[in-house]
Amino acid sequence: MSRKNQTLGEFIIENQAEFQYSSGELSRLINSIRLAAKVVNHEVNKAGLVDIVGAAGETNIQGEDQQKLDVMANDTFIRTLTNRNILCGIASEENDDFISLEGQNGDNNNKYILLMDPLDGSSNIDVNVSVGTIFSIYRRVTPPGTPVTIEDFLQPGREQVAAGYIVYGTSTMIVYTTGHGVNGFTLNPAIGTFYLSHPNMQFPEMGNIYSVNEGNYVQFPDGVKKYIKYCQEEAEGRPYTSRYIGSLVSDIHRNMIKGGIYMYPKSSKATNGKLRLLYECNPMAFIAEQAGGKASDGYTRILDLKPTELHERVPFFCGSRLMVEKAESFMNND
Ligand code: AHG
Ligand code: MN
Ligand code: MN
Repeated sequence: MSRKNQTLGEFIIENQAEFQYSSGELSRLINSIRLAAKVVNHEVNKAGLVDIVGAAGETNIQGEDQQKLDVMANDTFIRTLTNRNILCGIASEENDDFISLEGQNGDNNNKYILLMDPLDGSSNIDVNVSVGTIFSIYRRVTPPGTPVTIEDFLQPGREQVAAGYIVYGTSTMIVYTTGHGVNGFTLNPAIGTFYLSHPNMQFPEMGNIYSVNEGNYVQFPDGVKKYIKYCQEEAEGRPYTSRYIGSLVSDIHRNMIKGGIYMYPKSSKATNGKLRLLYECNPMAFIAEQAGGKASDGYTRILDLKPTELHERVPFFCGSRLMVEKAESFMNND
């Protein structure tokens, strides 16, 4: 049951029965994410006012400069999600290794693990452009009572029990799925409450937006180059419109509402593309599929890939089903 003007808190309670085997932990986990999102939102909004913008002087495992807000968002989510007797492990873009969490009694009985990109699109912070958070939740596969292992984190995306993103944009939204469709909630900042604003979100089957960093064009595989040329041709509703923010969350969010395809292909410089399978592509793929869209690496369904490393990268094509299928057909004929 969903109705407009319902708050996220009400929605979580009213839909709790949807979660198979749930004893309330997943609901409490979504509630904690909601809380962390409000804190990060507050900090992101202040970014232009206080001396918080800029590199923190540390480099993460991918060799990229960490922005201060990345660190803040990471700390906020970890702090908020710890000590609530829900999670037994967290993995983050900003941490080289996963974190093992004990329950409040010092046991290892919590059921869920979470992977996240705490601040996505962080290069956009300095220029006041939307950023986001992405999260992905699984049930652990190792026995409760023991510490989590890497196997708990390297599950194929189809095993996700929930996934979502927060977009800190002109308004702040939480969009998430627990495998029963996708719902979007918009924050009323005056009172700190998220309201259901986008019930049952659907990726249009077809759209007219393509989103790719075309600066890398000459390095793309031939199939991708041909598909981009196809998008630009004057025929049957084309050329499409090119829109690329450089913030995965915002690019996918726009395309889900308007219809379009997002691509981060491999290139001669980045042989697996740039985006991370576990905390960028898998959660976005789960959301896309739950909204009737599609996500692939150009050949294979993202959610069927078997991860081998926490921070692995994968080429990513995600969006309106017919557009992704068209891109795949160009890749396959090459
Ligand atoms: P992050 O800020 O978490 O490192 O992610 C940035 C990602 C993603 O949000 C975006 O779509 C992509 O990097 C943009 O990459 P390019 O600048 O290479 O286009
Ligand atoms: Mn990211
Ligand atoms: Mn990030």
